[in-house]
Amino acid sequence: MYRFCINVFGCQMNVYDADRIRTALTSRGWVEAPEEDAEVVLFVTCSIRDKAEQKVWSDIGRLAFPWRGPVIAVVGCMAQRVGPLLLKRFPSVRLVCGPRSLGRLPAALGEVMATGKAAVLLDEDPTVLDDLPEAPLARSNPWKAFITIAHGCDNFCTYCIVPHVRGRFVSRKPDDILGEVECLVSDGVREVTLVGQNVNTYGRDFHNGYVFSSLLRDVALIKGVERLRYATSHPRDLTRDVVEVMAEHENICPAINLPIQSGSDRVLRVMNRGYTVEEYAAIITMIRSGLPNVAITSDLIAGFPGETLEDFHESVKAVERFRFDLVHTAAFSPREGTPAARMEAQVEASEKRRRLKEINTAQAVITREINQGQVGKTFTVLVDGPAPKGEGLLQGRTPSDKVVVFPGDPAMMGFFVKVKITGAGNWHLIGELEPARQEDLRR
Ligand code: SAM
Ligand code: SF4
Ligand code: F3S
Repeated sequence: MYRFCINVFGCQMNVYDADRIRTALTSRGWVEAPEEDAEVVLFVTCSIRDKAEQKVWSDIGRLAFPWRGPVIAVVGCMAQRVGPLLLKRFPSVRLVCGPRSLGRLPAALGEVMATGKAAVLLDEDPTVLDDLPEAPLARSNPWKAFITIAHGCDNFCTYCIVPHVRGRFVSRKPDDILGEVECLVSDGVREVTLVGQNVNTYGRDFHNGYVFSSLLRDVALIKGVERLRYATSHPRDLTRDVVEVMAEHENICPAINLPIQSGSDRVLRVMNRGYTVEEYAAIITMIRSGLPNVAITSDLIAGFPGETLEDFHESVKAVERFRFDLVHTAAFSPREGTPAARMEAQVEASEKRRRLKEINTAQAVITREINQGQVGKTFTVLVDGPAPKGEGLLQGRTPSDKVVVFPGDPAMMGFFVKVKITGAGNWHLIGELEPARQEDLRR
C-alpha cells in the first residue's frame, strides 16, 4: 500500500485511463496524495505534439533530480513511444507502460515498489490489448465520466502518432460499455462522454450491423444518463443515422467535433484524410439540417509540410465558410516515424506560428459573433466548479458544450441550473442564475 499521485496530459482517453488507474490502485488500498507526499508519481502522457512531450520531460526532470525523490511511472502514449529512453535517462523512472498494457500496471507497480526493479510494459504487437477491467469509479470529476468505446486507430493520417502508439482499432463490446455506464450512473454520474479517436467506425469490426448509432441509442436509453456526448468524429465516417439518433434523444447533446484539419483538397489528400472540402461541406449540411441547434467544433493544422500560402488561405476560407463554434488549431509538429515528418518542404517554425495566429484571429471573430448570438437565451448548465478566475463565480457547460461563467454558490456543483446568458467573451459566455426557474434545480 503506497501513496500515489497521478498527473494527466493529453486527450479524454487519457482522463478515462487515469480514472481507471486511480480506481485500480485505491481498490488495492493505495492512497492518493499530493505530489510532495507521494511515494510514486504516475504520468499519464500524450505524444500528439512535441510540446505535449516536452512538458513531461521537464516535469520528470524536476522530480527525478536530486535522487531519492518519488518513484516515477510513465504511462500512456509517450511511454509507448519513448519508454526505454525515459528509463535510461532517469533512474527514478522505474516503470513504463503503454496504453494497451494497462491491465498489467497495478501488479507491476506493486512489484516495482516492493523490489525496486524496473518494469517495462510496452506492447510489441499493436493488436494485443491487455486492458484494466475496472470502471472509472474514482474519477477526477464525480458527476461526469469519459468512457472509451474503441481503442486505437487504423486511419494513419500522415501527420499523426496515434495509430503508432495506441495500436489497431478495436471496438469494446456493447455489453461491457452499457454495463459500465449503468455502474457509473448508480455512482452519481450525470453526464457521459463516449470517447475514441474515430467513434463513427465503432462496431465496424463486429460485422453484425451493431454500429455507433446503435450504441449511442442504447446508452441514451439508460435511465440516469442525463447528458450524453461523444468525440471524436471523422468526417469520412459520420453518417445520417447518428444525426437521426441525436435528434430523437433529448439527452444527447447537440454538439459535434468534426475535425477538418485543412481547407485545401491537395493538403487533405497528402494528409490521407479521405475527404474533400466539398464532401466535408455536404456532411455539415446534413448535420445542420437534422440538428438546427447543433454546435460544431473542429480541429485544424497550420503549416503542414508543403502547405503553400494558397493552401493556407483555403483553410482560412473554410473556417469562415463553416462558421465553427470553436476550432482547436495547432502548428504542425513533426512526429518521428510518421510520413509527414519526413516530407520535404517543411514550413519554417516562425511561419507556422504566423499562420496559426492568423487563423486564430479569423476564428476568434466568428466565435465571438456566435457567442454574442446566445445573449438573452437560457440554458440548462451542469455546474462543474468554481471559475478559474473570479471570486464567487462558478463555471459549467451548456448542452452545446459552451463554457458559461456565472455568480453562484459552490454548493451547486454537480447540479443542473438554469442560466440566462447576459454577455459573451471570445471563449466563454457570461450568465446569471435564472431566479424564477430554481425549482428546476435537480440532483
Ligand atoms: N482522431 C481525431 C481526428 O481524426 O481528428 C483527433 C486526433 S488528435 C488526438 C487531436 C488533434 O491533434 C488532431 O485533430 C490534429 O488537429 C492534432 N494533431 C495530430 N497530430 C498532429 C501533429 N503532428 N501536429 C499538429 N497537430 C496534430
Ligand atoms: Fe490520428 Fe487520423 Fe486517427 Fe485521428 S483519425 S487519431 S488524426 S490517425
Ligand atoms: Fe495524446 Fe495519445 Fe490522446 S497521443 S491525444 S494521449 S491518444
